Amino acid sequence: MGSLTVRNLSEEIKRRLRLRAAASGRSMEEEVRLLLAEGAADAPDGAQSGARPAQRSAKPAATATTRQILLIIAGGIAAYKSLDLIRRLRERRYAVRVVMTKAAQEFVTPLSVGAIAGEKPFTDLFDQASEFDVGHIRLARDNDLIVVAPATADLMAKMANGHADDLATAVLLATNRKILLAPAMNPAMWSNKATQRNLKTLIADGVLTVGPNAGEMAESGETGLGRMAEPLEIVAAIENYFAGSPSAADTAEPAHKPLAGKHVVITAGPTHEPIDPVRYIANRSSGKQGYAIASAAAAAGATVTLVSGPVALPDPPGVKTVRVQTARAMLLAVQAALPANVGIFAAAVADWRTAGDVVQKLKKDASGPPKLSLVENPDILATVSKLKTKRPQLVVGFAAETEKVIEHAKAKLKRKGCDWIVANDVSAEGGAMGGDDNAVHLITAGGVESWPSQSKEDVARQLVARIAVALNGGSR
Ligand code: CTP
Repeated sequence: MGSLTVRNLSEEIKRRLRLRAAASGRSMEEEVRLLLAEGAADAPDGAQSGARPAQRSAKPAATATTRQILLIIAGGIAAYKSLDLIRRLRERRYAVRVVMTKAAQEFVTPLSVGAIAGEKPFTDLFDQASEFDVGHIRLARDNDLIVVAPATADLMAKMANGHADDLATAVLLATNRKILLAPAMNPAMWSNKATQRNLKTLIADGVLTVGPNAGEMAESGETGLGRMAEPLEIVAAIENYFAGSPSAADTAEPAHKPLAGKHVVITAGPTHEPIDPVRYIANRSSGKQGYAIASAAAAAGATVTLVSGPVALPDPPGVKTVRVQTARAMLLAVQAALPANVGIFAAAVADWRTAGDVVQKLKKDASGPPKLSLVENPDILATVSKLKTKRPQLVVGFAAETEKVIEHAKAKLKRKGCDWIVANDVSAEGGAMGGDDNAVHLITAGGVESWPSQSKEDVARQLVARIAVALNGGSR
């Protein structure tokens, strides 16, 4: 409908539209939609005026408060899931514009994509027939987020190397918007050093990722890491991005908050176990990962209680932060914060404390170094996981390991009775302790997902997105 409208307009009106579009930073097409939406809102009831009623499948008007997603579909078998992704996004009132690569069109047709998206997908870098002046630069900029799903190994390689030999890659190179990739490929291609190298480059360039998941591949008998994240997981990652994006929050209606109405309790940081009034047992935890999770959960609409050991970080905004020193105090604060829907135990709790209270500073004397007698601290994660009442619906532990990361983490999940474990390598080479980046493995009943090394904020966003999906009936 939009194309007919613009083509049939007089040159003068087209000129004015062009000026309006330039002034507002919107495309001509969006300007037309906006005018039509405003006109429809003011007009008398369509049936009475004899006007054609608006089609139910029409794309939601791209008003200043509608989020515009540019979805790029690359050529992989997972492209069929993109149709469901478009549907899920439109249900949530996102405006979705689609670019399809040539290979994508071998898997799904532009016709079916257009029918679901409510407008024809863009397929060609040199599309003379485009009536809307929507060149690749405008496609690249007139959106709030670019989502690439499925992102193939080939497209990722092109992105990492700055290629621009078709519409999708030209848009990705020209954009100043955030890009979210949902990789999908054969496990051997995913684990290939070249793909991992490209992924690292893309993450360093600020690209966000969701998935891939582990599971069965389309090729019979192949299993492993490489399945595209499910459409609802991608939606959750998109919503988390908007929830945590201050610039977007200024200009758009409040994003759908996937954790609204949920209470999340999080532990973070180390604990300090006193040896005497001036000395203590501690570890190198900075608290950054737990604090990032608290912020991401709050941005996703949750009520968050953060029980924090001693760290040098400010209280995250919008989060109830309870500061404690010791493991015993941390347990008491967590128990006081229950009930909760989700418990996330990111603290590096000291396993031992000294027996008894030493009230005076230990002094050096002729008898030599003091003998420290240690007793075990309560295990907060195991205690909460095994609660009969008040056990959170989803209990997530962390596993700090220096060797056999996945094997030890799986054993920990069993021993402690939690639902998920986020395992990370805390060996000196891993750099997770105290650093800004983290490469984690998420261990669930469904298997192991190895997420790429990314900032602790991105790990937090991805974890919160997964939690939102799980709480809303998705895979656990
Ligand atoms: N944890 C806890 N209370 C403790 C010890 C650990 O709640 N007293 C939690 C951590 O917050 C984390 C998980 O248990 O979620 C695993 O912690 P980690 O230090 O990796 O394991 P430990 O139980 O200490 O086992 P080990 O030191 O033998 O690896």
